[in-house]
Parts: sequence; C-alpha cells; structure tokens
Amino acid sequence: MALLELSVVQFKNYAESRFQFDSGINCIVGDNGSGKTNLLDAIYYLAMTKSAFQAVDQQNIRQSDDFFRLEGVFEHEAQPFKIYCALQTGQKKIFKVENKPVERLSEHIGRVPLVLVKPDDSYQLNEGSEQRRAFFDHVMSQISQPYLNSLLRYNHALKQRNQLLKQFAEKHWVDHDLLTVYDQVLLTEGHSIAQARSEFMQTFEPVFVQFYRNIADKQEPISLTYASHFADPEFATAFKAARPKDLAMARTTQGIHKDDFGFALQGLPLKKFGSQGQQKSFAIALKLAQFEVLRQAKGEKPLLLLDDIFDKLDDKRIAKLMEMMASGTFGQVWMTDARPERSHKLLKKVTASKRFFYIRQGACEQVEQG
Ligand SMILES: Nc1ncnc2c1ncn2[C@@H]1O[C@H](COP(=O)(O)OP(=O)(O)OP(=O)(O)O)[C@@H](O)[C@H]1O
Ligand SMILES: [Mg+2]
Repeated sequence: MALLELSVVQFKNYAESRFQFDSGINCIVGDNGSGKTNLLDAIYYLAMTKSAFQAVDQQNIRQSDDFFRLEGVFEHEAQPFKIYCALQTGQKKIFKVENKPVERLSEHIGRVPLVLVKPDDSYQLNEGSEQRRAFFDHVMSQISQPYLNSLLRYNHALKQRNQLLKQFAEKHWVDHDLLTVYDQVLLTEGHSIAQARSEFMQTFEPVFVQFYRNIADKQEPISLTYASHFADPEFATAFKAARPKDLAMARTTQGIHKDDFGFALQGLPLKKFGSQGQQKSFAIALKLAQFEVLRQAKGEKPLLLLDDIFDKLDDKRIAKLMEMMASGTFGQVWMTDARPERSHKLLKKVTASKRFFYIRQGACEQVEQG
C-alpha cells in the first residue's frame, strides 16, 4: 500500500496544501505547533475515517472555516485509487472511494492498513484495560471485517441494555423480556469476539515477544495475557444470574467489555513493576507487532506513521529502528521531527529514498529530496 498524493483543505491548522509523497521515507519537519502531527492525522483520517487525536469530529475543521476536505491518491498493487473525505459543520461526514460513497464507514476500515506510533502510546497502553482493549480492537478490526461487525453489534446492544437498566432503576419497573433480547445479542456476539481475541493473541504474542527482545536486547520474560468472562464454559448461566446485580448497579457488569489484556514482566503487571524504559519498549514492540501481523494478514506493508519518535526514544531504540528501516522491514514511512538537522543526520545511513517536507504554520514551505 502506498499514498502518492494528499490534498488537505481546512483540516486543523491547514488552509490548503498538496503533498506528493516519496515511496520511501517522508520526513515532516517544522517547529512545535507548525502542523506536523496534523499532517499525519490527515493520513490516519483517510485510512480510519476518524482522527487519532481529536475525538470531536467537528473540531478537525479549521477554526474560522465551516468544512474540511481531504483527498488522497493511494496505490494498491500498482493500481491507483482515490479516497475522499469531507465534513461540513452540522452535517454528516462524506466518505468516498473512487467517487463512490462509502455507505457504512466501518466497511472502509482495513482498506488502507496503517500503523501509527505516537508519543503517548506507552502511557495510554499502560494506563487502563479500556485503552488496551481499544488497541487490540483497532488491530483486529483492520484485519477482520466480521470481527469489527460483531464488535459494533455488541457495543450497540450494550449501550441499549445499559440505557434500559438505567431507565428501569429510575422507574422502579423492569421489562425482563426486553432485557433478554439484548442478553442474546451480548452472549452470541460476545462469544465470537472472545474466541477471536483469544485466537488472535496466539498469533500476536510470539511476534510481539520477538520484537520486544529485539528492542530491549534482553531475554526478559515478558508476556501478554488475555482474560475473559467467556473463558468459563458456563458463562451464559452466570451472565443471566447476574441480572439482579446489573439492575442494582444500572449497568451490564459482565461480558467482553470487561475483558482484560494484561502486560506482564516476569509474571508481574508491567504498569506497577516495569521501569519507564521497559514500558516504552513494550509499547513500541506492540506497535511493531501490529505492523507485522497486519503485513502478514494483508500480504502488503502497512503505511507507517511515526510521530515524534526521535524525541521520545533513547539512542539505542532509535538505532534499532534505523536498522529496521535500513533493512527494508518497512515500506512507506512518515516521521515527524521538530529538529531537521537531527533527522537528516539519523537518516543519512538509511539507503531508502527520502523526502523532507518543511512545515510552517499549517503550510508546506519547502520540499527537499534527501
Ligand atoms: N481545528 C483547528 N483549527 C485551527 N488550528 C488547529 C485546529 N486543530 C488544531 N490546530 C492547531 O494545530 C497546531 C498543532 O499542530 P500539530 O500538533 O500538528 O503541531 P506539531 O507540528 O506536531 O507540533 P509539535 O512539534 O509540538 O508536536 C496547534 O497550534 C493547534 O492549535
Ligand atoms: Mg506533533
């Protein structure tokens, strides 16, 4: 997969800019706040139908304007294709592939495999089980549409059931049959999601462990664990038995939304017992493993976006990444850096073709072939 051209109109701090990307490394440089991360986000947006940083969609529209538009010319197996996205204040987002509207945005996920490595990954992934579930769901959704569809149905049913539980608590009245309808969806979809997650971990973990060892250069006993209520073969009975508790708490207390993906170092939780360096290595290894499993599943290299990577990694890890770049592990790469001299120096040894984009106040001032 490759992104050849990108047009960014009134997206975040960009007025109107066009980019022609290198098929190798694209280095985005500029001062703090110039728009480097925003440019990566525009690419992410076209692949994922949303921003990686701004959850409120309308706030991706440039202040003082009332719409944004993104257009990308991608290439898949030597065939170029266009992805178009536009959002107008107060209106529904328009998404098109080759001028054909995408009916359901979820259908688009996975079309452009992409991995984004960002500075707060380590913090987020170690923070809470919700963020860890979100990471694995994000990876698995890019690989499997049925998984994503199950997840959407589950989340929809969960939302409805929780709303009902709240209403029943307020009104002191319960429609048990209605709850049973949602129970069925949660149990059926939950079962297939838990099974898929468990199977995915079998493939993902060895890849991850390999990357971690590579980066940390050590044989630390690290592991990923996966715990789900669905591991209990009698879970359907337990779920039904928990209804009085659910009614008392006014929320669904059991199911795959409570699954936990654990990160462990020598059998102990990484968050408590891992050093900051170990936590960072863990996060990078997770992202590189994401790259590798996506590559295997799609049979092509995902786009790789590295935001502020030089600033957050120590020299040893930067050297590792540079080694991987030099050895052709990655395909098309974007990286941002507020210090152009540093990226020029670090990329010198990498033989892949390079292009430098100098960004200033939401516009590209200069392009330089490296
Ligand atoms: N909707 C918007 N309209 C106008 N400006 C916006 C909008 N959203 C974000 N910005 C601006 O974009 C700028 C940040 O851009 P970005 O995060 O891409 O910077 P950066 O070059 O990555 O900086 P750093 O080196 O600090 O990471 C901020 O000044 C922010 O106010
Ligand atoms: Mg940035």
